[in-house]
Amino acid sequence: MIIDGKAISAATRGDIKAQVDELKKQGVTPGLAVIIVGDDPASRVYVNNKKKACAELGMLSEEYALPADTTEEALLTLIDTLNGREDIDGILCQLPLPRHLDEKRVINAISAEKDVDAFHPVNVGKIMIGDYSFLPCTPAGVMELIRRSNIDVAGKHCVVIGRSNIVGKPMAMLMLHANATVTICHSRTQNLKEICRTADIIVAAVGKAYFVTADMVKEGAVVIDVGMNRNAEGKLCGDVDYDEVSKVASAITPVPGGVGPMTITMLMQNTVTAAKQRRK
Ligand code: GUN
Repeated sequence: MIIDGKAISAATRGDIKAQVDELKKQGVTPGLAVIIVGDDPASRVYVNNKKKACAELGMLSEEYALPADTTEEALLTLIDTLNGREDIDGILCQLPLPRHLDEKRVINAISAEKDVDAFHPVNVGKIMIGDYSFLPCTPAGVMELIRRSNIDVAGKHCVVIGRSNIVGKPMAMLMLHANATVTICHSRTQNLKEICRTADIIVAAVGKAYFVTADMVKEGAVVIDVGMNRNAEGKLCGDVDYDEVSKVASAITPVPGGVGPMTITMLMQNTVTAAKQRRK
């Protein structure tokens, strides 16, 4: 089975649209502010897609495109203003930031109630204890793909490859909350191949093209590819050797068209959730 992220994303956005329409009847339009500093081309594509998704769902979006030499003080002042804005429910500062800016300080400055990335330590802590306000977008997108594909997680062995704060660590936590037995692997893991071969579900979040090969995958395993890489020919590809691994996996996500569309969809859901929670 090919897990069709575009189709599942469209279905999920249908559900989100219904929530937006309901809020609008009550006079509330969910609003997202997106901050981008500098001109990283990949970040530019992501930010454009986020704005487009907001427009399609009838939500308000505001973009703050700041020059690469923006001072930390100016950025923090903008965040402070957005924190206080009644019509802005979600604030997202696109990462990575230029090197002279302290990412931790910037993330901490965003009000936890408006932190639709779920990067703020308060929200990270809530994820740890299973008391969610916002789900981290990419891991939540993976869980939604799995849920809507009717794949059982409870009791299964899930191997997450990668331990980043954005994907690997929260991914492992969501799988644990879904009652999987979870192993986190990373660049220092010994016997990676042997561990992966015991997995019922593999989530690859490595950032290396074609890292997961067919000999690492048990027959019938589910393989989720979070990677977004360019191969030698400059073509977009994931962390998984799709052509070979798809011959042994029972279900697999393609790149593009797998996890990618779901990440933005979950961001939209978080913004709607923020709008609801702030008006409770
Ligand atoms: N850069 C890469 N992924 C993300 C994300 O999910 N959120 C933000 N803010 N920046 C990113």
